[in-house]
Amino acid sequence: MSETALVGREILARAEALARHSDSPDHYTRTWLTPAHLAAGRQIAAWMREAGLAVRTDGAGSLVGRYEGAAPGAKAIVTGSHYDSVRNGGKFDGVLGILAPIACVERLHRRGERLAFAIEVVAFADEEGARFQTSFLASRAFLGSFDEALRERRDEDGISFDEAMGAAGLDPAAIAAHPCDPASIAAYVEVHIEQGPVLLDAGLALGVVTAIAGGTRERIRVTGAPGHAGTVPMAMRRDAIAAAAEMVGAVEARARSVPGLVGTVGLLVVKDGTGNVIPGEVEFTVDIRSVDDAVREAAERDVAAAFGEIAARRRVTVSAARSHAVRATACDARLQDLLAESVVAVGAGKRRLPSGAGHDAMVMAQVAPVGMLFVRCGAGGVSHNPAETVDEADAGLAAQALLDFFRRFR
Ligand code: GLV
Ligand code: MN
Ligand code: MN
Repeated sequence: MSETALVGREILARAEALARHSDSPDHYTRTWLTPAHLAAGRQIAAWMREAGLAVRTDGAGSLVGRYEGAAPGAKAIVTGSHYDSVRNGGKFDGVLGILAPIACVERLHRRGERLAFAIEVVAFADEEGARFQTSFLASRAFLGSFDEALRERRDEDGISFDEAMGAAGLDPAAIAAHPCDPASIAAYVEVHIEQGPVLLDAGLALGVVTAIAGGTRERIRVTGAPGHAGTVPMAMRRDAIAAAAEMVGAVEARARSVPGLVGTVGLLVVKDGTGNVIPGEVEFTVDIRSVDDAVREAAERDVAAAFGEIAARRRVTVSAARSHAVRATACDARLQDLLAESVVAVGAGKRRLPSGAGHDAMVMAQVAPVGMLFVRCGAGGVSHNPAETVDEADAGLAAQALLDFFRRFR
């Protein structure tokens, strides 16, 4: 078996092993600072040490492994991704971008090979934010930024943010107190499963990311009038779900009007919903994304105007609360070219593509040039879903291309 195939096999076996650290016995869900999450962190730290990385844990529970360059204290190529998941998620989202660089460093270490730059592998503790409805919590804390208001939040079991941190041996007052020094970072590179069907469709194992779509997420509340399903004549109703249904259609129609723009209603909750009651209150989420911020902002304005028109016509009220906003991020042109050379060097094509999904690289772009390497997603390109898969050979090629990039980087 070739070295690339062996590395791919090892990465997949490790992803499988990590997925067993799950909050649920029925499916893979790993949220920030649960016992399963802490156990996964310990496993990642052990693999990092075995690979020759010196490991520290930061204030948010992220693991930072450093492999020194030829000259101690050299600037670092920082690389990594997250090890939390969405609920009932896929085993590779995030984890692949931690396991691939660990495998690379292991090879360098075994050969006693030191590069001009240090390599720092970061396993970010929380990106998806499923437990406290946060976004990019760990990468933001890694750079020294934290929104104190988050400490007011509780998870679904009523455990407060501070209690969760305390139980994990972390100090909420110091979550972002010891940030990394931006001057020590030469570049940030993230390997990630594509989470879509583009590379699969093109028959290519790897692709270089050009830009990461910006996005906003809002929680919309529609309030009408509840009533008896059998007694209120249709013309007299102020049905919240009928209004919400039109609004969902408006999101879809507006998103479909521009190629590359996407709009999703992923959650819809009918208050006191039951079969024989006219819904009086409905809440739903709207997620709108584009690599072009102006295109996204125009869509957001149009969707808000459509919601207002629908609400007025149907005599319901509508309000919106924003829970997430991030601007589009361009990947650095030089890093794109270097990554493309590495992808070509391992014979995996030369496709460039934008990312529709959000990544820790968006936060790291505040302090360093960023690049991303996408790995083909199997099973039709499905992600944020247990059916998400990566081919052993593709994972091996990703590690090989990343190692080539580390050696190529100047
Ligand atoms: C993160 O996975 C996102 O793009 O929503
Ligand atoms: Mn994800
Ligand atoms: Mn991810």
